[in-house]
Order: sequence, then C-alpha cells, then structure tokens
Amino acid sequence: MSTRQLRLGTMLHGASGNMSAWRHPAAQPDASINVDYAKRIARKAEAGKLDFLFVADGLFINEKSIPHFLNRFEPLTLLSALAGVTQHIGLVGTVSTSYSEPFTVARQFASLDHLSGGRAGWNVVTSPLEGSAKNFSRAQHPDHALRYRIADEYLTVVKGLWDSWEDDAFVRDKASGQFFDPQKLHTLNHHGDFFKVQGPLNIGRTPQARPIIFQAGASEDGRKLAARHADAIFTHHATLEEAQAFYRDVKQQLRQHGREPNDLHIFQGVGVIVGDDSADAERQYQATAALVSIADALNYLGRFFDHHDFSQYALDAPFPDIGEIGQNSFRSTTDEIKRKAREQGHTLRQAALEAATPRPLFFGSPEQVADGLQAWFDSEATDGFIIQGGTPDAFERFVDRVIPLLQARGLTRRDYPGTTLRASLGLKTPVNAFTQR
Ligand SMILES: Cc1cc2nc3c(=O)[nH]c(=O)nc-3n(C[C@H](O)[C@H](O)[C@H](O)COP(=O)(O)O)c2cc1C
Repeated sequence: MSTRQLRLGTMLHGASGNMSAWRHPAAQPDASINVDYAKRIARKAEAGKLDFLFVADGLFINEKSIPHFLNRFEPLTLLSALAGVTQHIGLVGTVSTSYSEPFTVARQFASLDHLSGGRAGWNVVTSPLEGSAKNFSRAQHPDHALRYRIADEYLTVVKGLWDSWEDDAFVRDKASGQFFDPQKLHTLNHHGDFFKVQGPLNIGRTPQARPIIFQAGASEDGRKLAARHADAIFTHHATLEEAQAFYRDVKQQLRQHGREPNDLHIFQGVGVIVGDDSADAERQYQATAALVSIADALNYLGRFFDHHDFSQYALDAPFPDIGEIGQNSFRSTTDEIKRKAREQGHTLRQAALEAATPRPLFFGSPEQVADGLQAWFDSEATDGFIIQGGTPDAFERFVDRVIPLLQARGLTRRDYPGTTLRASLGLKTPVNAFTQR
C-alpha cells in the first residue's frame, strides 16, 4: 500500500479525444455548451471521488479553431452552476492575467469559493494567443516575458486582496449595531509597475482562506511563477523522463522560495483509453483518430503557432523551418513540437497528426491503465493527473473501471476527507499576510 496520495482531476470540455471527436457515435456534439452534459460529468467525477473538475479557456477564436472552442461556456459561470449540483468536488477555472483586472478576478474566485463552500480553484494563464489583444482593445499582445512579469505582480495583488478581511471580521452584532471589527479590515494600497489597487476587497476571507491557485505554463518563467505563487501546476509531458526532470526542477525551485515540496502538487494532463484489453483500446483509439482529416490536423497544429497557416508547406517534406513563429504564443509547447519533429525526422503530415491525434500514454485494459498511472506516480514524475479522456466516453469508463483499482491499491481515497478542495489536496491553510506583521 502506498502512503503518498495520488490526486486526480478531470478536464471538462467538449467531446474528448481530439478536435473532431464531436463526430464520434458516442459523443455529445454540443458538449461544450450543454449544461446537462457538464452536470453529468461533474456527478460522475464526484462519484469517483476525484479532487476537481478543470475548465480550460481561451480568449480568441477564428474559423480554424477547435470546434468546441467556438461555442463554449465562460469557466466561472459554468463552475458556479456546477457548485449547486455537487458537494465535494473542487471547481477549477481558467482566467488570464493578461486580459483581466486583479480586483475583479479576486472577487469572482472569492465568490465561487463562498458559494461552493470552499471548492474554488483558479488556473492562472497568461494567454498564448496573440489575437486576444484584438478582443480587449489592445494594440499589441504583451510578449512572453512581459506577460509573466504582469502575472507575478497580478498574483501578489490578488492574494493581498484575498487577505482584506480576517476570518472573523464580520461580527454582525445586532444588539450593538457593530457589523464588522475595523481592526480586522486591511487595505492593500498596492502601487506597482502594472497595477495600482487600493482595496479592500468587497467580499470576506473565503472558506479555504483563499482559493487554490493552479498555474499552466511550463517555460522557465512559467515554472518560476508557479514556484512563487501556485498550489498546483497543470502541465503535460510526453515521456516519463521529461516529466521527472520537470518534477525535480519545480520541487527544487520551491525551496528557493522557502516552500516545502508538498506545498505544490504537479498534475500531468493525460489522455486515457480504457478497453477490455489492449486490442480493444487500440480499436477505440483508431476509430477516434480516423475522424481527424489532415486539414483539421494542420489547423490544430497551427493554433499553437499563433494560427500559422501550415497548409502552405509540402505535407510529406520534413517539418518546415518556421523560425521564431510561436515564440510569443504557446512557447513551451511549440518548442517541444519543433524539437520532437527534428529529433524524430518527422514530416509535416506526421507532426500534425501526432499533435492532433496523440496516442494516449495510458491505454489498454483497466489494469494496464492503473499500472501506467501508478508507475508515473511512484517514480515521482507527477503528484497526480488531470484526466482528459482519449475518446468521448473514456472518462466514464475510467471512473467505473480504473478508479476502483486505484482505490484498492491505496493510491486514491474512497471518500473525501473534508468539504474543501484544500482538504482534498491536503494543502496547508495560508496565514493572512496582514496578521503576520
Ligand atoms: C498544459 C498547459 C495548459 C494550458 N492551458 C491554457 C488554457 O487553458 N488557457 C490559456 O489561455 N492558456 C493555457 N496555457 C498557456 C499558458 O498559460 C501560456 O500562456 C503559454 O503556454 C506560454 O507559456 P509557457 O511557455 O510558459 O508554457 C496552457 C499551457 C500549458 C503548458
């Protein structure tokens, strides 16, 4: 029996598997805008005692975007609806620090934390897509390094605002007429390079003291931001060795900020396909992959490179040299795609299909999937997984057939330890910074 606890979340998005999986016979084609579908997945995840639901997001679309990005819920609105139909599962939503205001976002996540009884999590992203600037009245998309400088100050401000009120600040004494204790109210008065925010926040300290902070972004700057501020990282690595190197690096960086390795959990986003055996899983994979045309795959690849048009290059020639395109977008992802194409001598067709129809790492019978997840967990490649589903119905099968195995092995728990996401993740409660002075 393992003593370390394996943590699990699941991605709530359109039909799982790939960009064309909405066409699959088992798919709910309007999944990304269907609240009943979202409720069904949320309840299923809660039945499997998963730690959280995870909603990704983006701020720019065009006609080449992934179909379920064209028509989808805003994350916090969706999670607020799901808070009402679930009791224990964490609710993690993506909001960009490049295109929002700290006061608004601090208030929104504090509200979600209050209304869900302590289950809110914020996935901090810096927005990779250059087109986002066009939707937010900006002349230019901030460059990669600047986005991370903004994010760092932004998180300092938001955390400061979340400490505006001490836990017991609101006394609401009807007899005396005292509504709050002024000694327990703190005004931030932040003046920085990017933000001037006075405070206090107009909502009290939350059930989790503050919402859980996830960070998605794997470059050097992304890791630094996470090591300083985050409770969790959402990342993705194709091999065990790469994941282990990332794990070691991030845990090491935590120490530089006076933090312990267990203060931040690393989550690998992974596809799974659960079959009766490997041949059944392979059949399921092939049926889902076959839905993606090469034109779809080129569009999918192009999005990482700021919607670069890959249809202009020869499909069966080596992956084209496109210079710096993508460096200001999904940098860590584009670096990885280019490196792999170079090392493996892939043509454009191979690279596009590999990006658009990745073969899930965890694949096969329920035992094989459980073995694979356990191997990554036991060898410190990760603290947990965000299950993305390799086919539209993979997640439900995962809960029914793999979760019981993980529970029987003592890797995941059979029930929730408390009512908050912080309790589920076993994270310490932060002290209010104003009371530390
Ligand atoms: C695993 C992973 C998931 C991400 N999820 C999102 C997302 O949901 N929305 C978004 O706007 N950006 C997302 N990003 C993009 C990052 O926030 C960031 O803008 C971009 O990747 C560049 O940062 P990086 O080079 O540090 O990875 C994600 C990045 C990674 C690596």
